[in-house]
Amino acid sequence: MTSTGRTVSSHAGPTRLADAYFHEVWQEPDPWDFEDSWYEARKRDLTLAALPDQRVAHAFEPGCAQGILTARLAARCDRVTAIDPVPEVAARARERVRADVDVEVRVGALPDDWPEDPVDLVVASEVLYYLSPAGMEVFVERLDAALDVGGAVVAVHWRGPTDYPQTGDEVHERLGAVDWLARTLHAEQDEFLLDTWVRT
Ligand SMILES: C[S@@+](CC[C@H](N)C(=O)[O-])C[C@H]1O[C@@H](n2cnc3c(N)ncnc32)[C@H](O)[C@@H]1O
Repeated sequence: MTSTGRTVSSHAGPTRLADAYFHEVWQEPDPWDFEDSWYEARKRDLTLAALPDQRVAHAFEPGCAQGILTARLAARCDRVTAIDPVPEVAARARERVRADVDVEVRVGALPDDWPEDPVDLVVASEVLYYLSPAGMEVFVERLDAALDVGGAVVAVHWRGPTDYPQTGDEVHERLGAVDWLARTLHAEQDEFLLDTWVRT
C-alpha cells in the first residue's frame, strides 16, 4: 500500500477513521492500484505464504477492498468472512468471489464488526492503522474472544508516513505485546512489516 495522499480530516469517534474518508478514497476505481501493482501482487503472495497452515477452516478478512486477496484466501479456506465499510466496494468483492462457495462479504468495520462464530485465522492487511489506539485495544479484546487456540493472525502494514491514527510499526508493536500470541514469522523491509502470530 501507499498513502492515497488525501488529508485525514475526521474520525467516526475514538476508535477509527471515519467511513467518509474511505467513501471519498473509493471514488477512484482502484485507489491503491491493487489490480496492477507488482508491489501489491508480491505483498499478497508473501501474505498468503505467511499463513501457517495449508488449509484453514474459517478466516476473517477485515478491510477486504474489492476482494482480490479475498479470492486468493478462498482457495485456502473452507469459509471466509470478509468486511469493508464501503458498501459499493463490498459489493465488488462479493461479485468477485461469487463462484466461491463459502465466502460471505459484509458491510462492516473494525473494531466492532466480527463474525458471530469463532475463527482460526485473521488476515489484517493494511487495515489496523485506521484504528485509534483505543480502537486497537477493542480489536485485541475482540480478537481474544474470536480466535481459537492454535489460530493465527497474519498482519501486514505499510511503514511509510501517513496521517492515519497509527503507524504500521505501532500496530505490529501492539500485537507483538499480546502475551497470548506467539510470533512465528517476521518479515521486515523498508516498505512494510509482515508478521504471523499463533494463539497459544
Ligand atoms: C488499503 S485497503 C486494504 C485492502 C486489502 N486488505 C489488501 O491489503 O489488499 C484498506 C481497506 O480497508 C477498508 N477499511 C477502512 N477502515 C476500515 C475498518 N475500520 N474496518 C474494516 N475495513 C476498513 C477500506 O475501505 C479499504 O477498502
